[in-house]
Amino acid sequence: MPSLLHLDSSSDLTTSRSRAITQTFADTWRGLGDDHVVIYRDLHTDALPHLSDASLHFPPHLRPAGASPSAAQEALQSEIIAELLAADVVLIGVPLYNYSMPSTLKAWIDYIHVPAVTAPFDDPATQQPMAGRPVVLISTRGGAYDRGTPTEFDDHALPALKLILEDALGMALEAIVATRTLSERFGAPADEVDKQHAELAAAHEAAVEAARRLG
Ligand SMILES: Cc1cc2nc3c(=O)[nH]c(=O)nc-3n(C[C@H](O)[C@H](O)[C@H](O)COP(=O)(O)O)c2cc1C
Repeated sequence: MPSLLHLDSSSDLTTSRSRAITQTFADTWRGLGDDHVVIYRDLHTDALPHLSDASLHFPPHLRPAGASPSAAQEALQSEIIAELLAADVVLIGVPLYNYSMPSTLKAWIDYIHVPAVTAPFDDPATQQPMAGRPVVLISTRGGAYDRGTPTEFDDHALPALKLILEDALGMALEAIVATRTLSERFGAPADEVDKQHAELAAAHEAAVEAARRLG
């Protein structure tokens, strides 16, 4: 039973591009067969609380002496990690907010990145339970971040997610990107608006292709 964990984090519930593209992916996934399950978590409308205690970054045997994190948060963390571990494929909507990821998505990352549980600490061979599993990031950005331009490296969301999901957890990461999403609203030149439309259409096509390939 191939299972997709679908996460959205855009705070725009009406015109979000990342929500639309993740929806395209998830709809394609469901269309692959009745056995293709989708587990959905909306990190914006059902936001996780920030980690209340730094000791939750580690499993009990690696916590400092005397650590006593909230049992409720520990239970929530176990639930979030179990949801991740049950996924064959993970799909994440990543709107660019202040050159970074939304804080709601960052909170999820803080729950799931636990050395010696989901990431290597002292025994890399046995501590990457998500190794090789695909994670597809749907990255949407209001501005332009083209190669060879001064803003090329100004997106700090994808590099951070790559460090955690690909390098630490060992997942097979791919990103589908749509930029210039604010170009129409703010009266950008016609060629910029055309580029935005083309990128958006290509992102939806890429989402369909990826869902079929990974499903
Ligand atoms: C709080 C906030 C911060 C933003 N910061 C940036 C930014 O740093 N760079 C950028 O290109 N766009 C920025 N934007 C625009 C969004 O990236 C853009 O609207 C994108 O399409 C959001 O994804 P969504 O369409 O899925 O909601 C910001 C939007 C919001 C709401």
